[in-house]
Amino acid sequence: MPKDTLTITDNRTGKTYELPIENGTIKALDLRQMKASPEDFGLMTYDPAFTNTAACKSRITDIDGEKGILNYRGYPIEQLAERSSYLETAYLILHGELPTQAQFDSWVFNVTHHTIVHENIKELMGAFRYDAHPMGILVSTVAALSTFYPVAKEVRNPRARQDQIFRLIAKMPTLAAFAYRHSVGMPYAYPDNDLSYCGNFLGMMFKMTEVKYKVDPVLEKALEVLFILHADHEQNCSTSAMRAVGSSEVDPYSAIAAATAALYGPLHGGANEMVLRMLEEIGSKDKVPAFVKEVKTSGGEVRLMGFGHRVYKNYDPRARIIKVMADQVFQLTKRNPLLDIALELERIALEDDYFVKRKLYPNVDFYSGLIYQAMGFPVDMFPVLFAIPRTAGWLAQWEEMLEDKDQKIARPRQIYLGKGHRDFVPVSERG
Ligand code: ACO
Repeated sequence: MPKDTLTITDNRTGKTYELPIENGTIKALDLRQMKASPEDFGLMTYDPAFTNTAACKSRITDIDGEKGILNYRGYPIEQLAERSSYLETAYLILHGELPTQAQFDSWVFNVTHHTIVHENIKELMGAFRYDAHPMGILVSTVAALSTFYPVAKEVRNPRARQDQIFRLIAKMPTLAAFAYRHSVGMPYAYPDNDLSYCGNFLGMMFKMTEVKYKVDPVLEKALEVLFILHADHEQNCSTSAMRAVGSSEVDPYSAIAAATAALYGPLHGGANEMVLRMLEEIGSKDKVPAFVKEVKTSGGEVRLMGFGHRVYKNYDPRARIIKVMADQVFQLTKRNPLLDIALELERIALEDDYFVKRKLYPNVDFYSGLIYQAMGFPVDMFPVLFAIPRTAGWLAQWEEMLEDKDQKIARPRQIYLGKGHRDFVPVSERG
């Protein structure tokens, strides 16, 4: 009769242990009882970068990398991208269920009425150099918001948490757009509560001297879809940062600043920018075969940016949705000339044994930068465009962590390999 247990024999002592298996995992703490001697600390696992360690139980986002499936709260990403809006999806991610009409109206009202930031934030923005990266400005200004809302410290108070969630989802686009306007020396455009979440963001970015910004429905829809696709992606680097920093019970503005900082890195939120630079470097469609050859013979040094994923070993479902949407956006904007190079790269790579054998397919970043560029966003803004929608996911994961009785302040173990005990020597006596 098969049992959901794991039997381990410790060859140091000859002792055998039977550990329960639950949800395909064993508890790392169950290993602690395995000691080589009574003074021994007990066995630990060594797992840098958490490549095979579940750090939490979650009910938010489910990814099946082999099948190329991504669900938020059980709903397939394809259905949400086609039929939902960003704010509805954010509600779903945060609350676990799609809202009723009344719940949705109240949610939209609350988010919409928190979009304005304190005037002092403008002065803070003004302190940055004209060429400051908007992501650096976002990290700093969102952290600064914690000083405006001292009640945010009450992370065990669900009502206080809810207020900060409204504020963070509402104010991230305002901070992002202000950061951009600062970098181009344009006056800040204030939020317009008559517009949708994405329409208002486009307005705050691109409004010139017109009294009322007119949102293009195709661009508005494209941004809704891109925001939905980026709303959560379970335990990645920035979400892990949000959970680890939040586990100290710091306020959510400080934790979101930490998550945004993690996203800033080129290995995480910066990949779509690198895709664009790669396509520009290739320069034309006829140079694609030579580039692919270079990738294959470089011994892993030159990578096809926007290809491959730690989890997806099939097509990234988000890339498929973005590719279809690109056609709609390019009908409106000028067709991005880099698209032809991207399409040719994908065509050649998907037929090539090197990529097929390694299960390397386009990921979410392969086409998203092309759309953002065609919509008029500068490349520096790409990671910022990632941070805005991911705020919903970060906050949902933060709340889940706070309500999870299994969680404590994050505190990994280490294997100490440094020097043993030695006595201090005054500088005058050191050789
Ligand atoms: N181009 C060429 N070869 C690649 C690529 C690529 N983009 N990605 C992986 N490989 C090769 C590796 O050289 C390796 O080959 P080998 O077995 O002969 O040594 C093999 O495929 C496995 O690669 P790993 O690096 O072990 O795969 P890992 O899962 O660790 O990396 C990653 C995943 C980082 C995404 C990688 O595929 C990559 O660097 N892609 C390009 C950067 C990128 O697009 N990042 C965005 C990811 S999506 C996101 O973060 C939102």
